Amino acid sequence: GKVAVLFGGDSAERDVSLMSGDGVLAALRAQGVDAHAFDPSKRPLQALKDEGFQRVFIALHGRHGEDGTVQGALELLGIPYTGSGVMASAIAMDKITTKRIWLADGLPTPRWVSLRRDEQQRERVRTVPDELGLPLFVKPPHEGSSMGASKVMGYSQMQEAVELAARFDAVVLCEEFIDGQELTCPVLGDGEDAVALPVIEIRAEQGNYDYQNKYFTDTTQYLVAQLPSELQEEVQTLVLAAYRSLGCRGWGRADLMRRKSDGKLFLLEMNTSPGMTSHSLVPKAAQAVGVSYEHLCLWLLSQARL
Ligand code: DAL
Ligand code: MG
Repeated sequence: GKVAVLFGGDSAERDVSLMSGDGVLAALRAQGVDAHAFDPSKRPLQALKDEGFQRVFIALHGRHGEDGTVQGALELLGIPYTGSGVMASAIAMDKITTKRIWLADGLPTPRWVSLRRDEQQRERVRTVPDELGLPLFVKPPHEGSSMGASKVMGYSQMQEAVELAARFDAVVLCEEFIDGQELTCPVLGDGEDAVALPVIEIRAEQGNYDYQNKYFTDTTQYLVAQLPSELQEEVQTLVLAAYRSLGCRGWGRADLMRRKSDGKLFLLEMNTSPGMTSHSLVPKAAQAVGVSYEHLCLWLLSQARL
């Protein structure tokens, strides 16, 4: 039957989604799937029903795509879709709610302070480094791809960082900086049957794995499956617990840090619609276990459900 690849959308990560969607669409077509591009910011989702689409591959990132809203609409239309359901998508889109759930389940995540609109004035903002130390990260809790995120090195940079993040979200997340290795680990499958792919260590040229270094720099180093096996297993076990704790299904990718001083792991976030661009991480991890980009797309599509 006809398959729609949803990409584009109206989030701040639209451009990333366009790259992911191009890749997924081409891969599915190459495998003989009757796949069509569909941009939900250009056409109402009802058209999927009217035009007889039978399954949907979600290659949207961020708001209105990764956050449970599109998933909810597809539930109502009765069209099976890839990835997590409404609730896990909504939770994972919010870094603060995600952290609360992980903490409640005893899973490690960096300390944080969230600032509501009425707490984003100078006096309050200036106290945050006292609580979290410096440097620290300031992030809009509902964005991806480092959109609106800053690494704050000193008190004087706090207000600007908060104002930038507040352009994206009403609440701003200030998070303890963990000095160490930046790791990511994809997960495929559901619940107890979910499996973790190899862990990737990311070494960005200029320290920060920011938007530029994520998608455009060719000097970012990706070390796939190169951790000592005990450490890799420790990361995978933690990431599977994190995935199950949020109720994710289909696929996802957890980002985490390993602290240099003592080797402790900290979960940063779960991405429920991970990037599928030429620079993206899930395809690299799949490749390391002999799963091509095309087969990965086909398998994900096969897991589409309501
Ligand atoms: N938010 C981007 C797409 C990612 O995590 O891959
Ligand atoms: Mg993300």
